[in-house]
This record gives sequence, C-alpha cells and structure tokens, in this order.
Amino acid sequence: MELEPFKSIYRQSSGQCIDSLREFGYAITRLELEPSASFDSEWRQFKESWNKLEADRYLKAATTYRFRRYAAYDYFSLAGNLRQKPHQGFRQTTTEGVNNPYAGQERIFAPLTDDIANGQWLRILIQANIELFSRLLANPISHWTVGVHQIRVLGTSSAAGSPTPEGIHRDGYRFLASHLVNSSNLAGGASRIYDGGRKLIKEVALRQPGDTVLLDDRRVYHEATPVYPLNSNLGKAERDVIVISYDEV
Ligand SMILES: [Fe+2]
Repeated sequence: MELEPFKSIYRQSSGQCIDSLREFGYAITRLELEPSASFDSEWRQFKESWNKLEADRYLKAATTYRFRRYAAYDYFSLAGNLRQKPHQGFRQTTTEGVNNPYAGQERIFAPLTDDIANGQWLRILIQANIELFSRLLANPISHWTVGVHQIRVLGTSSAAGSPTPEGIHRDGYRFLASHLVNSSNLAGGASRIYDGGRKLIKEVALRQPGDTVLLDDRRVYHEATPVYPLNSNLGKAERDVIVISYDEV
C-alpha cells in the first residue's frame, strides 16, 4: 500500500532530499521553522538548552572546547512509537573504515534534560527523518535505534575548536542528520562530505538555524572544519548542533 506523502519538515520537498541522498549520498536542506506562538517558545527553549550542556571529558585536548548531552531512543515504525531508552553509555562501532578514536570505548555523557528529551520538537524531527530515510530503503526497517547528541563547540582566536578531531570519518550508522541550532560569532565549522573513495564532493557551512546535512553514512565520509571567531574582538565562537544517528536494531 502506498503511504500518504508526509509534509516535509524541510524547505525542500522530501522528494528533493531523497533524490539527492539517492544520487550523492547526502542532502543539504533547512528545517522549516514555522513561526507560531507555541513553536517559537519551544524552539527558544530548545536552543537555550545548549547553554546547559556539560564538558566532554573524553576530549583529548589542552582546553575543553566541546560540550554535550546524549540520549538514545527506540523507534517502532509500524506504530510510529518513539521510546527513550534508559540512560546508557555511548559506544561507537569498531567496524573498519569508520575511523573513530573512541571505537569500542564506552563514553558516559550527561543525559538530555527531560524537557528536551520528551519535547514535541525532537519527536517530530526524529519521526520525519525516519519517514524520509525509510523511503530510500528497499527493505523497511521496523525497529530503529536513534542516538541524539546535543553538541556545542567553542573556538577562540588562540585555540580553534575542532568539531571532528578524528578527521575524515564515518560513524558506523545507516543514516545521520546534523542540524545547526544556533551559532554566535562563528567562522569555520564547515561541513565537508567525501565520497566512498574519500574525495571531497561537498563543502557547506551551516549558518542559519535549522540548516541541515543528511548523510547516508554507509556511502559517504564527513568531517567539519575548525571553529574560530569571525571577529576576535567579540570573544569566542559558538557552534551548536544536534546530531542524530539512525540505525537498524
Ligand atoms: Fe561524525
């Protein structure tokens, strides 16, 4: 049975995103942040929660420039049911070619706060992305596992902050979405996408709230360039993103 087409949460139609993912292994788009009283207040609450992230104590750097929170969910496609998992350590795959310095290591990050973890906005985002990604699959996934990372990277004029100190990598999931939530005095921090042979195929700087990169993590590699202040007289640069991984259980 043909499913009803769902309303895209992006400026582009879901068809355009799917075509780009199918052809290139990525799509660049922007969330449609429709102004309305309830949406505006939830978005503001969402955005401000990046001020309450905790230091990434696993970062191998002289100064802490990365802050984060994490939560994991199950998503059952048939029922459209999203369920938060009990808080757990975060562990990345040891699959070859993934290139993660923390592969196999359990990292304990602070949990998402309840208002964000249970908020309507996160739920809509996850469900819409899963519906979009599902349309790329020959065989539907009935049980997804979803990882949600709130991440802030700071950069100063004396110390740029690297969002991806591991360099060019994959993360070992089926799909990835990276959404810019907010930025301040930001230069750098561009997203780079590489094909399976690690040839650069796209560079895009996410600058507007809602700017989004969708990746087929099996087909393309990615990294982000260092973050530094646009104007050093204005203090540090901030780059706030939510990165969400989507995988089959
Ligand atoms: Fe990554």
